[in-house]
Amino acid sequence: MTDTSRVVARAVDALRAGELVAFPTETVYGLGADAANADAVRRLYLVKGRPPRHPVIVHIARSDQLDELGRDVPDDARLLADAFWPGPLTIVVRRDHARVVPEVTGGLDTVGLRVPDHPVALELLESFGGGVAAPSANRFGRVSPTTAAHVRADLGDDVRIVLDGGACRVGVESTIVDVTGAEPAILRVGGVSRGEVERVIGRVCASRTSGEAAAPGTLASHYAPRAEVELVDAAAAAARAAVILARSERVGLLASAPVPADLPAPVVVLTAPHDTEEYARVLYSRLREADDLGLDVLLVVSPSGSDGLGAAVADRVRRAAHPARP
Ligand code: TXA
Ligand code: MG
Repeated sequence: MTDTSRVVARAVDALRAGELVAFPTETVYGLGADAANADAVRRLYLVKGRPPRHPVIVHIARSDQLDELGRDVPDDARLLADAFWPGPLTIVVRRDHARVVPEVTGGLDTVGLRVPDHPVALELLESFGGGVAAPSANRFGRVSPTTAAHVRADLGDDVRIVLDGGACRVGVESTIVDVTGAEPAILRVGGVSRGEVERVIGRVCASRTSGEAAAPGTLASHYAPRAEVELVDAAAAAARAAVILARSERVGLLASAPVPADLPAPVVVLTAPHDTEEYARVLYSRLREADDLGLDVLLVVSPSGSDGLGAAVADRVRRAAHPARP
């Protein structure tokens, strides 16, 4: 038995005993509980600090479990699973009432299912056998974790087992597609682009990424560090920084390389990503860094690109941002 297998075996025992296990995925780390165990799921919500009506994604090892944990699974779901699993896409289908208890989905008749693309997650899910309900392994409303150290810093002693699978490869959460309605709808943009989803199902998707009907991860204020995040255009960054520095506040900047050259000297320039993929991968670490550095305000220039990871990064930055002060 390898070291990983030994730790995974302990994690499987913990899940079977109704305990929580944090594990890596290619998007962000998840905090997992047995999706068929109502007590375990209640504990998950308690540790996460998540309001009970916010549904959690259920992770599975293989596409053929779509019909075990879901029911009346439409063809679109199978097409998407074949094309993108394992990978950063969550598919919302009708829920099997025994294998996914209502506590997982805030009482909804549907469930979001996903096969994550990470060897440690797959080993865990394969040997556990059932569905693992797992939101991102951070306290509600805070920045999602992309390393095991982030998870420990957030959740501390509340989770005994944190499987360490290194830094997450994608860095932002999965795209969520709801295929239970008359037309497919995107509920959250993430690791798979809208264009790719529409190509596979051969139809245009509606967009339900905000408001009551959408996924609660799409609340306006979410993914937020303590520092105030402000969205700026690259051309306006220097002037905006000067205004904030004049209030005697500590200012940082996150932007793709090359960063604007004319910034006032006191601005703390966070290490710049070189392309959109790297931006997505490092975004949440940089937001945490802003807090570690004690910044009052972090100015953020979103990456260009209106679909795919560019759209996902821009979405998360918007939700992390506070309304700008004058
Ligand atoms: O990449 C990801 O999706 C990560 C990793 C751990 O897999 N998970 C994640 O979970 O981001 P969480 O709980 O932070 O976000 C789950 C999102 C929420 O916005 C929730 O509303 C939505 O999924 N969701 C889950 N089940 C749903 C359902 N049945 N109907 C609508 N939205 C659902
Ligand atoms: Mg989350």
